[in-house]
Amino acid sequence: MNGRLKNRVAAITGGTSGIGLASAKAFVRQGAKVAILARSQEKANKAVAEIGDGAIAFVGDVSDLPSIEAFYKGVAETIGKIDVVFANAGIADRTILEEVDEVAFDKIVSVNLKGAFFSVKYAVPYLNKGASVILTSSCLDEMGMAGLSVYAATKAAVRSLARSFTPELGRYDARINVLSPGPVATDIERKAGFSERDYDAYSEYLRTIYTKLFSRLLSKNFSIMMSMMSYSTN
Ligand SMILES: NC(=O)c1ccc[n+]([C@@H]2O[C@H](COP(=O)([O-])OP(=O)(O)OC[C@H]3O[C@@H](n4cnc5c(N)ncnc54)[C@H](OP(=O)(O)O)[C@@H]3O)[C@@H](O)[C@H]2O)c1
Repeated sequence: MNGRLKNRVAAITGGTSGIGLASAKAFVRQGAKVAILARSQEKANKAVAEIGDGAIAFVGDVSDLPSIEAFYKGVAETIGKIDVVFANAGIADRTILEEVDEVAFDKIVSVNLKGAFFSVKYAVPYLNKGASVILTSSCLDEMGMAGLSVYAATKAAVRSLARSFTPELGRYDARINVLSPGPVATDIERKAGFSERDYDAYSEYLRTIYTKLFSRLLSKNFSIMMSMMSYSTN
């Protein structure tokens, strides 16, 4: 631990597993005081035990707005005003166009988009000046994928939210960043009912896209990179 976040207060949604849980542990290693929002007391207890070092948890759901509000109020009253908001909770349920219904559509939007929006809105009264707000989007915020149209659309919307939050939260000197991960081995696809085969196909698809994107960017920027390298070595 090098204490870069010593005594900073971090509030994380989706901190019970995957990327959020790993981040919570990393924040604690850097000296932060961490609070997570968990969907049940059982999940809260398990995650807090794993994160260690005085992490605390509140039970709630990002699609239940009063519970988000109560989360930040509880965090501020228990461990102090907030320096880092990590609006990370998300689901990746599949939406096959011919099969999806309104309930399934609303569930994804409610967690991924509405949940992310209100996870920032309700934090505002409790932010310290200079706070960092991080939203988890996805590499699918600018790509398409069969069976994930609604998920991808919510992630594009999350990325868009950050563009408007930046000027809106300027008066708090807050920094807004969006994390757009590629495939990460977590339980998200399995929770969404992806089979092992679907998951492997999905990862393979993304690998192909990345390779194409990367080689295109590389050739486009090759001459710029060469110039930069020569500047930095001169
Ligand atoms: N894994 C990837 O390949 C990938 C790629 C790009 C983006 N992402 C994004 O990264 C974020 C984290 O996902 P992950 O891969 O770490 O998956 P994960 O392990 O399933 O973690 C998702 C977290 O969100 C929580 N959550 C889900 N619905 C919630 C709700 N209604 N209210 C409160 N919390 C809720 C989950 O709680 P439970 O423990 O109760 O389920 C869990 O803590 C998501 O926004 C996801 O879209 C993931």
